[in-house]
Amino acid sequence: MSSKAVRLLVIFSVYLLVNGNNPKSQRTLLPNVLVLEVTGQQAQFTLPCLDSTAEMKGILVKNIVWMVNGAATHKRGNTFLVSLEESFGGGNYTCYSEEGALLNHTLVLLQPVGSKRDLNCTAQNYDGGFRCYWKHPKQSRWTVASVKAERVGPSVEVTRCITNASGKSWTCFSSEGTVTIHCDLDTGGNGITCRETCPRPEEIQLLRVSVCVYSENFILEEYSVDFYMREIVKPDKVKIEKVNATMAEWSYPESWSSPHSYFPLVSQVVVRKNCKKCGNCTDRNNGQMVTNHTPGVFQFEIRKTKTLCVRIRDPLNASQWSDWSRHRVGKKLRKNRYHGDRVRGF
Ligand SMILES: *[C@@H]1O[C@H](CO)[C@@H](O)[C@H](O)[C@H]1NC(C)=O
Ligand SMILES: *[C@@H]1O[C@H](CO)[C@@H](O)[C@H](O)[C@H]1NC(C)=O
Ligand SMILES: *[C@@H]1O[C@H](CO)[C@@H](O)[C@H](O)[C@H]1NC(C)=O
Ligand SMILES: *[C@@H]1O[C@H](CO)[C@@H](O)[C@H](O)[C@H]1NC(C)=O
Ligand SMILES: *[C@@H]1O[C@H](CO)[C@@H](O)[C@H](O)[C@H]1NC(C)=O
Ligand SMILES: *[C@@H]1O[C@H](CO)[C@@H](O)[C@H](O)[C@H]1NC(C)=O
Ligand SMILES: *[C@@H]1O[C@H](CO)[C@@H](O)[C@H](O)[C@H]1NC(C)=O
Repeated sequence: MSSKAVRLLVIFSVYLLVNGNNPKSQRTLLPNVLVLEVTGQQAQFTLPCLDSTAEMKGILVKNIVWMVNGAATHKRGNTFLVSLEESFGGGNYTCYSEEGALLNHTLVLLQPVGSKRDLNCTAQNYDGGFRCYWKHPKQSRWTVASVKAERVGPSVEVTRCITNASGKSWTCFSSEGTVTIHCDLDTGGNGITCRETCPRPEEIQLLRVSVCVYSENFILEEYSVDFYMREIVKPDKVKIEKVNATMAEWSYPESWSSPHSYFPLVSQVVVRKNCKKCGNCTDRNNGQMVTNHTPGVFQFEIRKTKTLCVRIRDPLNASQWSDWSRHRVGKKLRKNRYHGDRVRGF
């Protein structure tokens, strides 16, 4: 064996030895992005610069130099022994030839064992759009590493997600090419707004959404959730308007699916003399159910100065209730209809 081959064999053996059980696992999140599952205990990980000997042709392997997050190191050779301890060890590892040419780069992210969290998703209607959001700890700036949104089912399909140059937009394709889901990062940086291009009326496959973000010290947080669209539909709240002194009216939210005959809503109304918070007013009385007056419109008769609390939902699929809308009948009316007048109540 040549001395070079011996050296490679030694490197490989050391690689196996060192990477025994800690980090607990490793996976490639994206090309050039490696995730190490860590326990917080001290560990070491051997990171290669170039994978195969073919790539090393013409390169003096022992003179490969390394930088971490743009800072020079004293390390030389094809591998870098990364020391992992607590939150330390992640970063952008880059390796260069003796002449200073970039050979490869790997973003090493550390994922604490058992740190997966829930993603919360909600949809305003059945049209295929939805929004997911997460709450990451405040004490860092977070970068979104990956977003994946896919339909999962019995047939094994591979979903491929590509991000565009802005790094804030993702499009996911199933291997069959039948499902495409596009997501954009919200301006706040802790939510995504997605749209499935061809939502099917009969929803058979679960939707799975997962988001990976990392902190300034390269700690990975993973948020994920499985759901059916019908489970996350929550209509927007309504806007209550008055018709006249005794009649209040509200319509389907503009964001609700049409035709309204195919996507009906029911409304729940709670009437109180006084009520500061609508959520509190249902405790004693579950309120009245109101059906449509005309397509897409609800009307409700009210006699004295009172507070109206109104919310809506899809009765067929028992969607989530919208948030409450609150309306003081007396005050608003006086202001709008008898402006400047001294009339009290009705
Ligand atoms: C560069 O590093 C990545 C891991 O980040 C590895 O998958 C890839 O094969 C390496 N490229 C070459 C040319 O060795
Ligand atoms: C890591 O550094 C390389 C070389 O400078 C650069 O091309 C790559 O975009 C960096 N990766 C990240 C995630 O910053
Ligand atoms: C997500 O939803 C769960 C339960 O549905 C709730 O406990 C949690 O607080 C929500 N998270 C966020 C970030 O709103
Ligand atoms: C990325 O995609 C978004 C939405 O599709 C678009 O608004 C934006 O201009 C794109 N950015 C780049 C750099 O292509
Ligand atoms: C208020 O409007 C409703 C519906 O248009 C009508 O039936 C009712 O008679 C009106 N009441 C008054 C006091 O104008
Ligand atoms: C209801 O009101 C009580 C006191 O009036 C308050 O302590 C409680 O937090 C309220 N609950 C909700 C859900 O707003
Ligand atoms: C409502 O539920 C029924 C039965 O579960 C289903 O067939 C229908 O597609 C659902 N409608 C919507 C709009 O999701």
